[in-house]
Amino acid sequence: MYLLNRMELSIQTAKSDDAEEVSNLVLRSFAEFASPHWEPEACQWFQKMNCASELVGKIHNAAHSSIALVNNAIVGFLLMPKPTLLGMLFIHPNEIRNGVGNAMWIHTCKALRSEFPTVSTVELNATPNAISFYTDIGFIPVSDMCLQNGCRVMRMSCRLPVKDIEAECNLTSA
Ligand SMILES: CC(C)(COP(=O)(O)OP(=O)(O)OC[C@H]1O[C@@H](n2cnc3c(N)ncnc32)[C@H](O)[C@@H]1OP(=O)(O)O)[C@@H](O)C(=O)NCCC(=O)NCCS
Repeated sequence: MYLLNRMELSIQTAKSDDAEEVSNLVLRSFAEFASPHWEPEACQWFQKMNCASELVGKIHNAAHSSIALVNNAIVGFLLMPKPTLLGMLFIHPNEIRNGVGNAMWIHTCKALRSEFPTVSTVELNATPNAISFYTDIGFIPVSDMCLQNGCRVMRMSCRLPVKDIEAECNLTSA
């Protein structure tokens, strides 16, 4: 359990049963923040690929996936298809800039350190709206911004922290 601005946040492993609620969250967050940077066909493809039935398989096959909960409602979803690739990170629009994304990343770094200790670098494709966030948590650009199949993204990379990341990020465990 984490305390963020007096809000109690718990982060736990995502299960296939969560797929429907996760899909609603992902599609809402995507529509509000990321879709303006993508072409219409790419947005339709994203919606199709992240319906509940598709997410069941993605969650089941992930190297790591987690949900963040406030009052038993899912407010964040993070998925790593493999331990070196952050594939999805979506926070509910009502909880943006409350530290949930940061807490989920810290939780993931700890999980990677114990479950995949040889992994030292994580990469991702960042949409323009998310670049400031990823820069803040330690990612650096490794490509220019480019259009990939209608999706505007920049490749970014992060060397995993080796120190006590919770203390470093000033995050309180409740
Ligand atoms: C990008 C995203 C995951 C960030 O999650 P979040 O919970 O809002 O981020 P946090 O509150 O943990 O932010 C941590 C820090 O990152 C930086 N940051 C986050 N969002 C930012 C923004 N929109 N602009 C500038 N800096 C930002 C800030 O430094 C922030 O710290 P501060 O609020 O104390 O200044 C979230 O905005 C989101 O889900 N966006 C829509 C989906 C998406 O684009 N996902 C990424 C796909 S590649």
